[in-house]
Amino acid sequence: MREYPNVFIFEHPLIKHKVSILRDKNTGMKEFRELIEEITTIMTYESMRDVALVPVEVETPLEKTVQYRVPEESVAIVPILRAGLGMVNGVHRVFPTARVGHIGMYRDEETLEPHEYYCKLPEGIEDKTVILVDPMLATGGSACDALAALKKRGCKKIRFMSIIAAPEGIRAVAEAHPDVSLFVSTLDRCLNENGYILPGLGDAGDRLFGTK
Ligand code: PRP
Ligand code: URA
Repeated sequence: MREYPNVFIFEHPLIKHKVSILRDKNTGMKEFRELIEEITTIMTYESMRDVALVPVEVETPLEKTVQYRVPEESVAIVPILRAGLGMVNGVHRVFPTARVGHIGMYRDEETLEPHEYYCKLPEGIEDKTVILVDPMLATGGSACDALAALKKRGCKKIRFMSIIAAPEGIRAVAEAHPDVSLFVSTLDRCLNENGYILPGLGDAGDRLFGTK
């Protein structure tokens, strides 16, 4: 994926450790949810290395000093429903005041085409750094449509974080949205004939919410 300057694949040892547990079919819903949150927090730190800071004056017990902070309200989180919801708390641990928008997408199980069924975004989102989250990037259809929906509503600074991605999905997003930085914790091998990522972890939404 070196050919795409907007794609960053972490390969962090701690993430590898946690993803190995996430993949295990014997990992239960509670642990699965907790791992998704923890991995998201690590990814948020890594993906925000170049976030803009503003100077602020701080008075320590000893003297006044100029320090640097991320401006409050400058970050918004947008999960792609449903599975993206599992990543929201992980970003909130880093940016507790970030507002949250929601984009509802489901993949038609026959055609694998994404369908938008819901979109509610915070006021003023067009001026914020938007972190779009979805743990699974398979064909890339849902992510490409969600990114287009955000851009249609004026968002200009968008980062997309996905925990497990297939090469097909990365290519689709990188080519359709070269202006969006794409952060992936783990690059998997391929998709199977049903559009599931291999080795993957199965259906992230079902495992997060216990629907199967
Ligand atoms: C999953 C996943 C992504 C999408 C990825 O959602 O959370 O949104 O599939 O597939 P794609 O890259 O091929 O579009 P799903 O449609 O299963 O909905 P759910 O989260 O409600 O289970
Ligand atoms: N959505 C999932 O939840 N898992 C996959 O492997 C592909 C799409």
